[in-house]
Amino acid sequence: MTTEILGIDIGGSGIKGAPVNINTGELIAERHRIITPQPSLPGAVAEVVAEMLQHFNWQGPIGCTFPAVIKNGVVYTAANVDHSWIGTNGEALIQNKTGCPTLLLNDADAAGIAEMTYGAGKGHQGVVIMHTFGTGIGSAIFVNGQLVPNTEFGHLEIRCKEAEHRASARNRTDEDLNWKAWTWRVNEFLARMEALFWPDLFIIGGGVSRKNDKFLHLLQARAEIVPAQMLNQAGIIGAAIAAGKQFQSTEALE
Ligand code: BGC
Repeated sequence: MTTEILGIDIGGSGIKGAPVNINTGELIAERHRIITPQPSLPGAVAEVVAEMLQHFNWQGPIGCTFPAVIKNGVVYTAANVDHSWIGTNGEALIQNKTGCPTLLLNDADAAGIAEMTYGAGKGHQGVVIMHTFGTGIGSAIFVNGQLVPNTEFGHLEIRCKEAEHRASARNRTDEDLNWKAWTWRVNEFLARMEALFWPDLFIIGGGVSRKNDKFLHLLQARAEIVPAQMLNQAGIIGAAIAAGKQFQSTEALE
């Protein structure tokens, strides 16, 4: 039975990877980061993924995140990556390039899976919503532990703009917002999510979680709000867990 999977988190600025023990959620080697090629064309990104495999001398299955809607390996959106990804079967592309069985999934879904399995959402029933705040805003919704894949609530319209164009971590830095002003926008977004989904728990993660001490105490919602526990490793770990499940069920069928 496969217990070690290489998790790779493909982002707009960096591609990060590490082998993961999917039975414990622990990285079994130090995380490696390679800068995302610009423009982030499919072929160039697949090259970097192959480089990542070489770095770890990896030959087994891999789980890969991507910041877009992914259905059966095909990329359907491209808010923060090159638009030539739309319609590309990213899973097949990476699999052909590396020769390794690959699962491709949305980045926030992967982060949510990691948090629900080994982190802040472990054991939580009911409706749990994970949001990642980075270049965009990612979302993952779980109902009694079951993921509803590919939710895209960062694109919810608030004050005539997409939420991720007002309240992402990038907005805070680009617009030079202080923590109070930025969390005000995040709270407005959370309130909208609550009005629509009435979650029991919000998990807040993404790149901004490195600075939790600056803003977590300013966040407000009716539901409980907790910080993600896996910081910048959630994508890597979640991708590996998801790939492990996928390939174990295929092994079982064989
Ligand atoms: C994308 C999502 C992604 C999120 C976080 C959004 O722009 O549409 O698919 O999960 O950014 O990276």
